[in-house]
Amino acid sequence: MGAGIAEVCARSGVDVTVVEADEERAARARETIDASLGRAERKGKLSADDRDAALSHLRVTVELDDVAGCDAAIEAIVEDEQAKRELFRRLDALLPDAAFLASNTSSVPIMKLGTETTQPSRVLGLHFFNPAPVMPLVEVVRSIMTTEDALRAARTFAEDTLGKTCIDSQDRAGFVVNALLIPFLLSAIRMFESGFASRDDIDQGMVKGCAHPMGPLALADLIGLDTLLAIARSLHEEFRDPASVAPALLNRMVEAGLLGRKSGRGFYDYSG
Ligand code: 3HC
Repeated sequence: MGAGIAEVCARSGVDVTVVEADEERAARARETIDASLGRAERKGKLSADDRDAALSHLRVTVELDDVAGCDAAIEAIVEDEQAKRELFRRLDALLPDAAFLASNTSSVPIMKLGTETTQPSRVLGLHFFNPAPVMPLVEVVRSIMTTEDALRAARTFAEDTLGKTCIDSQDRAGFVVNALLIPFLLSAIRMFESGFASRDDIDQGMVKGCAHPMGPLALADLIGLDTLLAIARSLHEEFRDPASVAPALLNRMVEAGLLGRKSGRGFYDYSG
């Protein structure tokens, strides 16, 4: 997701410093962005000059200190609360003058990240959708401490600079879209797990019967089953709704490392 957000920013002419955890991930981020820009160019959506311009706006590093001087930050690391808390503490110290510190989290309350900083007023959520270069929506999430100034800066950036469509959400588990989407995906997994219908029939049903661009099991694979599980747990912790209880099959698949597209196998096999 981070690579997709960085690509969107670079294609909009924004200088981006992408910080990855290690060299291997940094190389993968470069490859992902390169491949995505190449695909857009092949499809005639992007000229070679625009691709080169986008690449010239990107810097990929493994040193968090390299973000010093940036105007804003968008965090998109693993959905791990402790890791995100630690990162926000460090970003706060490195970027005392940034207009906003945003998280792309789909499961950690924004307020918890704000409490790690000296200026919780500028901490907010900018929640992109997968694949970020394609999906037009960004949810703008305000915590009870976020100020109007920070929200305005983030919204202006997402709408005017990146050309995204924004909706507002309170700082509640799932925000707007995942609060609706995730129970649906979990229901599809339960339906498959119980033998009620096959994988292909469930997915075909929603594609052909309801004009969804992809079926729920394919979408679960695209989101990543570990991410889906993390969101399900945060929804359940907040609302205690049985519809957000993770099915046993989802737990077992994540334990087995079957995480969907990113691991090569989930409900579908992507190794070929
Ligand atoms: N990166 C960049 N571009 C991509 C891409 C990627 N990973 N995947 C597809 N694209 C582009 C293609 O280049 C193509 O562009 P074009 O229309 O300009 O030629 C366009 O998307 C359509 O791609 P394809 O023709 O290859 O394939 P499809 O028509 O099957 O579309 C899809 C693929 C865009 C993923 C479509 O199936 C879709 O919209 N699926 C639903 C996605 C969705 O619901 N996302 C939200 C998930 S929830 C979420 O992210 C929140 C989080 O918190 C969990």
